[in-house]
Amino acid sequence: MVNDAMVNDAMVTGGGGPVLKAERLCKRFGGVVASDQIDFNLERGEMRCVIGPNGAGKSTFFALLCGILPPDSGRVILKGRDVTHLPAFRRVRMGLGLTFQTNRAFHALTVAENLETARRASASASGAADDAHFRAAFGAFDLAASSHLPARELPHHQLQWLEICMALRRGPDVLLLDEPTAGMSPGETMYTADVLKTLSREGLALIVVEHDVAFVRKVAETVTVLHQGSVFAEGPVEVITQREDVRQIYLGRTREAAA
Ligand SMILES: Nc1ncnc2c1ncn2[C@@H]1O[C@H](COP(=O)(O)OP(=O)(O)OP(=O)(O)O)[C@@H](O)[C@H]1O
Ligand SMILES: [Mg+2]
Repeated sequence: MVNDAMVNDAMVTGGGGPVLKAERLCKRFGGVVASDQIDFNLERGEMRCVIGPNGAGKSTFFALLCGILPPDSGRVILKGRDVTHLPAFRRVRMGLGLTFQTNRAFHALTVAENLETARRASASASGAADDAHFRAAFGAFDLAASSHLPARELPHHQLQWLEICMALRRGPDVLLLDEPTAGMSPGETMYTADVLKTLSREGLALIVVEHDVAFVRKVAETVTVLHQGSVFAEGPVEVITQREDVRQIYLGRTREAAA
């Protein structure tokens, strides 16, 4: 017999349905339709890459999922709960981990202090933070060796890795990453891809907005292509990146993807 407590538990843990869902999300800026009826489902443990040409609506979609922007219409469902009208910090407390293209770590604090700040923030989270993903990433990124250094002294790629670890410190169920490998060397990019792929295999759901096609091919199973605010194509990465119409709209800008 299913009682209210079981239903509530299923909603909190996300048992069954997609861990993050968008329904007919719309957002306009004046005459520009930046998000046009976007439907999107992310399953537990899924690694999804969101790609698209300049101005396709990737950042707008990211901001709508996070709660940084309110949609004009449509809904965002996190772990079975309608969060459309909740601000970003409430969604973070519910299990959304975020990293942004611009670094948000405190540059004057050490690596250890930044991570402690993130851990304390997690104390107010609704659920008990599961730090298995954090420990896996912290070890793989070898940040212990830099624990005592102020964040401002880290090389660029390590600062990106610190931000990923800070987001994981809160024990999220879903991690949203906006261009996590921007500015990294090809080797650092591929290493980051390996680590994120491992986290996904261990049950973390991830959405990565990314321009680097080599990275996308390495990590993603499913890719969502946005174009002019709409979902233009969605499916297995090896199928989608070979489609001629996708190449036309996306690869017009990123020619290496056609290789
Ligand atoms: N705050 C804003 N005010 C007005 N127009 C905006 C705003 N944010 C985005 N837009 C417009 O909405 C459309 C989608 O922009 P968005 O930044 O979401 O695209 P994107 O896919 O992230 O592009 P890029 O690859 O360049 O980062 C573009 O036409 C953009 O000019
Ligand atoms: Mg953008």
